[in-house]
Amino acid sequence: MDLGLEGNAALVTASSSGLGLASAKALAREGADVAICARGEDALADAEAEVDEMGDGDVLAVPADITDPDEVAALVDETVETFGGLDHLVTSAGGPPSGRFVDTTEREWYQAYDLLVMSVVWATKAARPHLVESDAGTLVTITSTSVREAIDGLVLSNAVRRAVIGLMKTQAREFAPEVRANAVLPGAHETPRIQELVEDALDRGQYDSYEDGLADWASDIPLDRVGDPMELGDAVAFLSSDRASFVNGAAVPVDGGRLRS
Ligand SMILES: NC(=O)c1ccc[n+]([C@@H]2O[C@H](COP(=O)([O-])OP(=O)(O)OC[C@H]3O[C@@H](n4cnc5c(N)ncnc54)[C@H](OP(=O)(O)O)[C@@H]3O)[C@@H](O)[C@H]2O)c1
Repeated sequence: MDLGLEGNAALVTASSSGLGLASAKALAREGADVAICARGEDALADAEAEVDEMGDGDVLAVPADITDPDEVAALVDETVETFGGLDHLVTSAGGPPSGRFVDTTEREWYQAYDLLVMSVVWATKAARPHLVESDAGTLVTITSTSVREAIDGLVLSNAVRRAVIGLMKTQAREFAPEVRANAVLPGAHETPRIQELVEDALDRGQYDSYEDGLADWASDIPLDRVGDPMELGDAVAFLSSDRASFVNGAAVPVDGGRLRS
């Protein structure tokens, strides 16, 4: 299926690793020009090379902290200047720390809100005027299946991410018909974030080995495995494309069938 993304301009935030990187690679493979960002410059340079290998479009890598509104505005400006416009915004983020309610500090609650919610606010605020001007404008927000069913030991993700779905549903109404807004809800995909969560659980004595931890993450997944990050990236590219032209305000799980609701 030709997604018709060739020559379009995309920005994927928090994208030197994991699901953001996979989304950038999927868009680049479809021929889009893709801008990526992250704070760590070494990983960003490696990611730029990986995205560049995927297609013939241009790649722009900008060091930026998605919790800083000025840096996000500058990132969007540089993307628009470089590519001559912006058609697709994909927002990812780092993961909030794992933990139970009793172990979570007040500061961690505010940091999670900045990272997961305000980063999407800053990016969409800066990008919206450009997306409206495009004849293919889309927003895709990467969140988590935790917005549907709480995950044990992830109180910040379970509680704070739901605001992002409320934001996306509102944008899907307010930004239409010029811009479609959707979200993807990843289940477990083997990214550095999942590796870190498994290792945290290993430190807490929950598992005997990394492999046991990964098998545990897959145990409730009907497809009997965790996902490859590119399987999430492919869904992001589809939702960004005109092949999904009547999909607006959707929160699409990409989880191997784990969610029961
Ligand atoms: N992996 C999964 O299976 C899964 C499942 C459900 C939900 N999620 C969620 O999906 C999101 C992405 O997860 P992932 O697995 O792709 O994580 P990851 O592999 O750890 O990648 C996170 C990316 O975000 C960047 N980042 C983090 N904080 C940033 C900031 N303040 N400003 C700019 N960039 C920032 C990181 O680079 P720098 O640190 O260098 O900035 C990195 O490129 C997270 O919110 C995660 O909780 C993941």
